Amino acid sequence: MGTFGSRTVLGCSIAVLLFGYCLAGFNDEFTKVWTPEHIVPDDTTNSVQLTMTQVAGGQFASINSFLYGSFSVKLKLIAGESSGTVCSFYLTSYGTNHDEIDFEFLGNETGQPYVLHTNVFANGVGGREQRIFLWFDPTADFHTYQVVWNHAQITWLVDDIPIRIHKNIENVLPNSYPTYQPQVIASSIFDASSWATRGGAVPTKWEYSPFVVTYKDFSFQACRVSNNDISPCTTNYQGNWWEAADYQNLNAVKVTQLKEVHQKYMVYDYCTDYVRYPTTPVECAYNTL
Ligand SMILES: *[C@@H]1O[C@H](CO)[C@@H](O)[C@H](O)[C@H]1NC(C)=O
Repeated sequence: MGTFGSRTVLGCSIAVLLFGYCLAGFNDEFTKVWTPEHIVPDDTTNSVQLTMTQVAGGQFASINSFLYGSFSVKLKLIAGESSGTVCSFYLTSYGTNHDEIDFEFLGNETGQPYVLHTNVFANGVGGREQRIFLWFDPTADFHTYQVVWNHAQITWLVDDIPIRIHKNIENVLPNSYPTYQPQVIASSIFDASSWATRGGAVPTKWEYSPFVVTYKDFSFQACRVSNNDISPCTTNYQGNWWEAADYQNLNAVKVTQLKEVHQKYMVYDYCTDYVRYPTTPVECAYNTL
């Protein structure tokens, strides 16, 4: 799986039993950020259930923070009625001018398709939303959602199929790529009645609550930042597997896959929202294949 020298730390997660030496449970890896009773981990199945009622949703976040790496989770989304709800899996730094890399799952009415919304913030600036339909029912079974973030590119993958890239073009457009702020991994469920489903036309239908989403098999293979010292993650990093050529530039197979996803499943792309951005953002030319 690449090099795990002193510079690269395999983030323990509740799935890392696989790697033999990091038998972490939920409480070793995560903290409950809000509504503890809505966050129910089960270390025997490496899973966590998040629930939302009209009173509150829930959020948990990793104790450690990371700068570059691969971050994945398996998710089974809210079955049946889920309009107005959002479930998320994302990376975020703390403080002002934050960086963030998002997966957000926008619920829908029974039988209507979920939308997967992605975004990336660099130095506090986001506004880079894309939305796709999925090619499967994400409520029927677990699927893998992964971010690979390296010095050249961020790749969002669903079941190993790339759905989006964001290139590091700091040399062309400064402050457009997360390069120096360590990020935690967070997961949440929250009410977004005002915008999630058909632009807010369908609010959360509380009579169907509690809404339940299951996360399992977290895997973080990433450079962990200790004592705010980012230098181990920004020097001599080239040997880390997530920095490899295939993750700096998609290979031919993955280019074809990404194009197909965009052709068939894209619902919204900020790069083609000419009302919102009369001048197309600079990075779009680099990220659109
Ligand atoms: C919900 O379903 C409607 C109708 O199929 C669709 O237009 C919409 O994009 C779906 N998703 C969301 C999050 O609104």
